[in-house]
Amino acid sequence: MSQKQQEIISMFDNIADSYDLANRVMSCGVDIAWRKKACNFVFKNLNTKSLENLCIVDVACGTGDMINHWLKNANSNHLQIQKIVGIDPSKNMLEVAKKKLPNITFIQSEATKLPLENQSFDVLSIAYGIRNVVERKKAFEEFSRVLKKEGLLVILEFTKCENPSFMEKLMGFYTKNILPFIGGIISKNYKAYKYLPDSIEEFLTAKKLILELEELGFSPVYTKSFSANVCTLLIFKKN
Ligand SMILES: C[S@@+](CC[C@H](N)C(=O)[O-])C[C@H]1O[C@@H](n2cnc3c(N)ncnc32)[C@H](O)[C@@H]1O
Repeated sequence: MSQKQQEIISMFDNIADSYDLANRVMSCGVDIAWRKKACNFVFKNLNTKSLENLCIVDVACGTGDMINHWLKNANSNHLQIQKIVGIDPSKNMLEVAKKKLPNITFIQSEATKLPLENQSFDVLSIAYGIRNVVERKKAFEEFSRVLKKEGLLVILEFTKCENPSFMEKLMGFYTKNILPFIGGIISKNYKAYKYLPDSIEEFLTAKKLILELEELGFSPVYTKSFSANVCTLLIFKKN
C-alpha cells in the first residue's frame, strides 16, 4: 500500500469517534435525503430476480451510515435484503459501525482488494469513499469483478466543479473554509477536515468519473447533482 493511502486510512482511524457527529453537523443532515434517493432509485430499478435475493456490499462503509440507509429504505419499500456486507480498511471506523449495527458483517479491507467472490453482489455502493482510494482504477476493476451482470454500482461523492457558477463558488467557499473549521472543532483534528476540500480539489468532475467508468464496462443509468453540484449521485449498470 502506498504511503499516501496509509496516511488517509490512519487519518480516518484518528477521527472515527467523532466522525458521525461532525458529519451530521457539517452536512446539516441534508446527506440523508441524498442517501435515500440512492436507495430508492436502486429498489425501483433493479430487476425482479435481483430483488428476490438481494445482495448488497457497501465499500468504504466507515461507521455504517449507508448500510443503515439500505436497511431502513428496504424496509419502507417492503423488501428483504438477503445479504449485506460492509467493507472498510479503517479498524476504528469499523469498530464504531459494529457497535451501531451488531448483526451486520463488517470486513476490514480496501476497495482494491475485496475479499468477495466473483459476480456475487447485485449492488455495490460507495458513499464519499472513492475520493479516498488512491488506486481508483484497480478499485473499479474489483467492483466489476464482484458485481453480477447488470448489477448496479452506486457512487455518492463530492465532485469537482468545472467553471463554477456564483452558487457553486459560494458552496466552494463553505467547503474550503467553514467545513474544516467546524470539523476541526468537533474532532479536534483540523488537518483531517482540511483534507476534505483538498481531496475534492484533487478529484474528478462528474463527467470525467463517468468517462472512466464507461471505459471499464459500466453504463451510466442515473446522475443527479445536489447542493449546487457539490455532491453527485451516480448510478451505473455493469454491462
Ligand atoms: C468520508 S468516509 C465515508 C464513510 C461512509 N461511507 C459514509 O458514507 O459516511 C470515507 C471512508 O473511506 C475509507 N477508505 C479510505 N481509503 C480507502 C480504500 N483504499 N478503500 C476503501 N475504503 C477506504 C475510510 O476509512 C473512511 O471510512
